[in-house]
Amino acid sequence: MKIVEENLLKSPINYTGNKYRILNQILPYFPSQCDTMVDLFCGGATVGINTTYKNIVFIDSDKHVISLLKYLSKVSFDEFVQKVDKLTSLYGLTCSYVRPINKKNECGYNNNNGLKNLNEKGYYNLRNDYNLLENKYSNKANLMLYVLMAYGFNNDLRFSKDGKFNIPVGKTDFNKNNANKVKDFINSLKTKNVKFICASFTDNVVADYVRKSDFIYMDPPYLITDAVYNETPTWSYVNEHQLLDFIDQLILSNKNFILSNCISRNEKINEPLSYWFYKKKDLEMINIDYNYHTCSYNKKLRDSIDKEIIILPKGKRNVRNKK
Ligand SMILES: C[S@@+](CC[C@H](N)C(=O)[O-])C[C@H]1O[C@@H](n2cnc3c(N)ncnc32)[C@H](O)[C@@H]1O
Repeated sequence: MKIVEENLLKSPINYTGNKYRILNQILPYFPSQCDTMVDLFCGGATVGINTTYKNIVFIDSDKHVISLLKYLSKVSFDEFVQKVDKLTSLYGLTCSYVRPINKKNECGYNNNNGLKNLNEKGYYNLRNDYNLLENKYSNKANLMLYVLMAYGFNNDLRFSKDGKFNIPVGKTDFNKNNANKVKDFINSLKTKNVKFICASFTDNVVADYVRKSDFIYMDPPYLITDAVYNETPTWSYVNEHQLLDFIDQLILSNKNFILSNCISRNEKINEPLSYWFYKKKDLEMINIDYNYHTCSYNKKLRDSIDKEIIILPKGKRNVRNKK
């Protein structure tokens, strides 16, 4: 699939392990023709949204993410901005896209902490109210979650074991950069025929969507990296083996697919994936040049060498990445 780098979209949902930085390396291996793609383990939908396919089924087991994506697919950008303006005014939060602030004159603003001091009180009030909501998947809850993410530390999305959003206040607000990301994302969703499904890859409903699709992109949590989506551990050896069985089924039914993964990390090897792959004569593995970090401030992670790869059926790829 052809890509124009300047046109690549960033998801407004800042997702740990998102593929934005390696899109230019993986998209060339996507089929040039495809009616329906499944973006399995879609996270913030970064990969599917950057394809040119008309029908895309986004699947993830995280109910908050799927609910937020569904909301963004229905709301218009103008309505979204109005709602962010209203909510942030209610909680006494800045909203520089709608109500520009003069940083020099703003008491509480400083270069190191950005808007943190100004927004701290309102942010924690909003976080408490969000965590008390009975229905976390209503439009109101989705909007609150978006604002928490946009104003939270590192713009992260993370929940505690008991389901509470637990990111501390950050330095940013709904500024031009965040607004543009939402605008481009919402507008792009409107040009495609999209479905958002909350399910585990092992659920029957996923098998149905896969059966009806031409191409499946899979970006599961990596067995051997420390990326933490939530405080509840999500990916185990059992999941990895289930995934390999799932891909065996794709191979049996001659489905086109691409799997993203990390085959080794420093001394650690993803053994189930390696053994499985080396027995497969009809698959190929392509190295991806990207040492991705879950947190920029974490020295241990910064120094680690992840061997990021994609795996795909040999006969199925159309475009060779010349880089
Ligand atoms: C590496 S992230 C995907 C990132 C995404 N491709 C992006 O660019 O934003 C892995 C995703 O797998 C999801 N996940 C974990 N276990 C799952 C399961 N059993 N079934 C479906 N999705 C799962 C997580 O919620 C997370 O969103």
